[in-house]
Amino acid sequence: MSDDLIEKGKENAAVKAVDENVKKGMVLGIGSGSTVVYAVKRIAELNNESNLDLKCIPTSFQAYNLIIDNGLNLVSIDRYPVIDLDIDGADEIDKNLNAIKGGGGCLVQEKIIASISKNFILIADYRKDSEFFGENWKKGIPIEIIPLARVPLMKKFEELGGKPILRMAKAKSGPLVTDNGNFIIDVDFGIVKNPSEINNKLISIPGVVDTGLFIGMASKAYFGQKDGSVTTR
Ligand code: 5RP
Repeated sequence: MSDDLIEKGKENAAVKAVDENVKKGMVLGIGSGSTVVYAVKRIAELNNESNLDLKCIPTSFQAYNLIIDNGLNLVSIDRYPVIDLDIDGADEIDKNLNAIKGGGGCLVQEKIIASISKNFILIADYRKDSEFFGENWKKGIPIEIIPLARVPLMKKFEELGGKPILRMAKAKSGPLVTDNGNFIIDVDFGIVKNPSEINNKLISIPGVVDTGLFIGMASKAYFGQKDGSVTTR
């Protein structure tokens, strides 16, 4: 499938989600990834055109820079511990609106921001829409871990039936280091029909900071389709 159609799908989903949900005076959570870039551009357009007085809270180093570069008002959760609306991308969204996130390595801050948002919505292209996790996203569930625990955790993830791979950095030898100074292990569990159960097992293991499983958090997902339309659920 052409990259142009995918990019157009991301943009269409992002623009529709912003147009339908962003309102004057809101405190916004700004997600991470390539789809969110289109959302931030649209948020900045609306903010400038209509003087919306929006306040933006980043979920990552990338989101921080997106807010600054697009001339938006950067604020912190210390001052705004309750967020009106969080808009974020996803790697896969299942039939119950659960999401796998963390393909871009920002899952911990993304989950904190989603958890303090009154409304959390997802934007994605058609490739992310699945009945069950693992149908379309084949890289596994991202799990942020404390580096010291790497070896025993790889073993534990195997014992739970997964195939763990330590995520490596690009353009640097060695592991990827997250915005929080941790490592990420991507664990392939195949098709996941019980994400809540797996999530509960994973987060109870010492050394696991958090998982990229966002269970029961999103209220709506926008999918940009190949034909230019946007479907929601
Ligand atoms: C980063 C994320 C991203 O939102 C997710 O990977 C989707 O990214 P993209 O919009 O580039 O497909 O969870 O941690």
